Amino acid sequence: MAKSKPSTATVITGAQIRQTFLDFYAARGHAIKPSASLVPEDPTVLLTIAGMLPFKPIFLGQRPADVDRATTSQKCIRTNDIENVGRTARHHTFFEMLGNFSFGDYFKEQAIAWAWELSTEVFKLPPEQLVVSVFREDDDAFAIWRDQVGVPTHRIIRMGEEDNFWASGPTGPCGPCSEIYYDFHPERGDDDIDLEDDSRFIEFYNLVFMQYNRDAAGNLTPLQNQNIDTGLGLERMAQILQQVPNNYETDLILPIIETAAKLAGIDYAKADEKTKVSLKVIGDHVRAVVHMIADGITASNVGRGYVLRRLIRRVVRHGRLIGIAGAFISQVAETAIQLAEAPFPNTRERESTIKAELDREEARFLETLERGEKLLADILQREAKSKTQQIAGTDAFVLYDTYGFPLELTQEIAEEQGLTVDVAGFEAAMAEQRQRSKEAHETIDLTVQGSLDTLAEHIHSTTFLGYTDASSTSQVAAILVQGESVDQAEAGQEVQIVLDQTPFYAESGGQIGDRGYLSGESVVVRIQDVKKDSDFFVHVGRIERGTLTVGADVTAQIDRACRRRAQANHTATHLLQAALKKLVDPDISQAGSLVAFDRLRFDFNCPRALSAEEIQQVEEQVNTWIAEGHAAEVAVMPLEDAKAKGAIAMFGEKYSAEVRVIDFPGVSMELCGGTHVSNTAEIGLFKIISETGVASGVRRIEAVAGPAVLEYLNVRDAVVRELSDRFKAKPEELTDRITTLQTDLKTTQKELETLKSDLAVLKSDQLLSQAESLGDLKVLVAELEAVSADALKTAAERLLQKLGAGAVVLGSVPEPGKVSLVAAFSPEVIEQKLQAGKFIGGIAKLCGGGGGGRPNLAQAGGRDPGKLAEALEAAKQQLVAALGA
Ligand code: ALA
Repeated sequence: MAKSKPSTATVITGAQIRQTFLDFYAARGHAIKPSASLVPEDPTVLLTIAGMLPFKPIFLGQRPADVDRATTSQKCIRTNDIENVGRTARHHTFFEMLGNFSFGDYFKEQAIAWAWELSTEVFKLPPEQLVVSVFREDDDAFAIWRDQVGVPTHRIIRMGEEDNFWASGPTGPCGPCSEIYYDFHPERGDDDIDLEDDSRFIEFYNLVFMQYNRDAAGNLTPLQNQNIDTGLGLERMAQILQQVPNNYETDLILPIIETAAKLAGIDYAKADEKTKVSLKVIGDHVRAVVHMIADGITASNVGRGYVLRRLIRRVVRHGRLIGIAGAFISQVAETAIQLAEAPFPNTRERESTIKAELDREEARFLETLERGEKLLADILQREAKSKTQQIAGTDAFVLYDTYGFPLELTQEIAEEQGLTVDVAGFEAAMAEQRQRSKEAHETIDLTVQGSLDTLAEHIHSTTFLGYTDASSTSQVAAILVQGESVDQAEAGQEVQIVLDQTPFYAESGGQIGDRGYLSGESVVVRIQDVKKDSDFFVHVGRIERGTLTVGADVTAQIDRACRRRAQANHTATHLLQAALKKLVDPDISQAGSLVAFDRLRFDFNCPRALSAEEIQQVEEQVNTWIAEGHAAEVAVMPLEDAKAKGAIAMFGEKYSAEVRVIDFPGVSMELCGGTHVSNTAEIGLFKIISETGVASGVRRIEAVAGPAVLEYLNVRDAVVRELSDRFKAKPEELTDRITTLQTDLKTTQKELETLKSDLAVLKSDQLLSQAESLGDLKVLVAELEAVSADALKTAAERLLQKLGAGAVVLGSVPEPGKVSLVAAFSPEVIEQKLQAGKFIGGIAKLCGGGGGGRPNLAQAGGRDPGKLAEALEAAKQQLVAALGA
């Protein structure tokens, strides 16, 4: 067996592996670059997923390289295999990828030679324990491994595109790759090498020969340069060199696991498999969340924020699975920070932010978790008996929507019990909810139906003229009626029209589509909205007059007033975002927006509500910028240039290589395809209407800008005028007047209460005749209609006084869902060993409550009015039984 272990003299730490790698390549002319943030500059991905990502623009020739060779240890997060974390030996969310990069400098031969040298001579992995793979068609790589490195041909495995062609995403730089695997069991022989067998092999070094760009259609075009991109998994190399059974037990993660185990009172080494999985999940995820928050991400329901939230929630849940009851993550995070702070000092610098965010999210989740867990347990119990053995999509949706259970979490818990979740049903429920909220502000169905796809082959994409023109002469390219393509349509018909070119803005980027008219020879079409369907602008409207024919020329004319309003609201949205970043938090990022003619809405990631003062400051700032009259500079430029200039990009949005930048220099610069004012002064005025929370971690500001402000103020003004009239007070006196009225109302209500109970007490005198005699004692048990507890007590005391020796028990329902009870006993009754306090407590129990008091007078309450009659009957029987003898 000795042969199967690498022959390193002493166990090498993760930190030493990292440094050794960087030093090795630095000695070979590579510049050591710091790890980039987990929040990538590249808007096409949510998180940094590979060491090459920060260099993508260089590979694509969009940015010149400042060096020919670089080496990094890059923080990465991948969540595509999240359910494998903790279950296999080597899956992670967070990991460090060590890489060496050549930007048009050395290529295959050199990359392979160095990778081999590093693996066998520096890390001292025995060559006979290494296997390499190459892309099936890459004869060059095969030959290099065989002839120059001397790997026996049966240990060079050709693999397909799936495994040995690497790309950072569906589009972008890519190329064939070659991987080096470590063989834990060379004694099994070389006859049937199966690199998929992870009990035997672990891939630790991937060499990508980056030489193509893949476009959206899947075409490969050669890059200007031949490049090298590599990735060596730090945790994997640590597993190999530290000779531990999995990545989690390396010095990079085990201390985190041990902290969690200690909090749970568990010995990791002796734990069962399931507990170990939970501890490994915690070990892995806590590293991830610490680095994510350190890099400025906050938990929310969108994008990266959602990834963070999901990871935190998984940690909390696995913590509970192993028996940790309360909050614990920030304690475990402390260990993760200790491990990370030397290579990544921002983890310690942002320690308090990290812990506060974790505490907040954890507390929030624990609360809902408890309620959700109960519900899920019920559902599971029910479904376990069912035929389908499946949780309904609607149930999973309620768990998601109301209790914050991510679908994946519900699936995981269900799986633990051998059940599945109806994912399609869940998605349908989700889509329905989206539809509902959409319908809330849209009355007409404007979905582009039917045969555009087939039409697409015959017509050209629409040319948009609306950045400069308000009208155009256009040709009708297609007409759809109820989703069917037609050659012509008549007055009265609802139509969807595609033109060859148009000044109409189609709804996108939050801005709604233009309104207006198409007119031609004796035909007029009123356009109510415009939607985009891939590259077609679909004008939705109604033919008012005449016949519209495909091929006809029409004048397309937008409603300029509507457009001006949309522009004012859209630019105001940009100013709003800039003001929020400037005054509230530079980390604020857009989570959604709506730009309509009469209002704007801006959703943004922010973990807390804004104070009234902040809202006022933001509003003032936007109005200052408006008054200062900043001119717009609109330019189209390569994405990278826009980013380099600091333009704000909407996160998660896909941008093309060329982007439009709306710049109000010194105020706001955003990538945006929308229409804008040419000078902020055109907006006139901006007014915030509300600031609310829409989801956890996401706030929403609703506001108005431009002419819409006047409308908003007019409506308010009308309300104030109406109130002034009614209250006969000047607007500035209204508050005082209303306060006085409210006070008067309260006093009157109190008086009314008193009168009502006085009345009830008086009425209760009628009950005297119902009293039963038991020897010398009188017993009266009765229900009074809707009487407060106080009045009930007064009535009982008064009745007992009138009866003399005896017992009075009264009950009432003072308000829905509430029961009041009172017992008043005279000394003669108490002598019979009956105590009002104990007695009424017992009766109250029958109505779902309790209470008690003195032996002669006691009150109690309950929550089940339906049981009152029964309880009073029981009271009577008990009194009769006790006093009758
Ligand atoms: N970019 C390559 C990978 O992530 C090295 O595997």
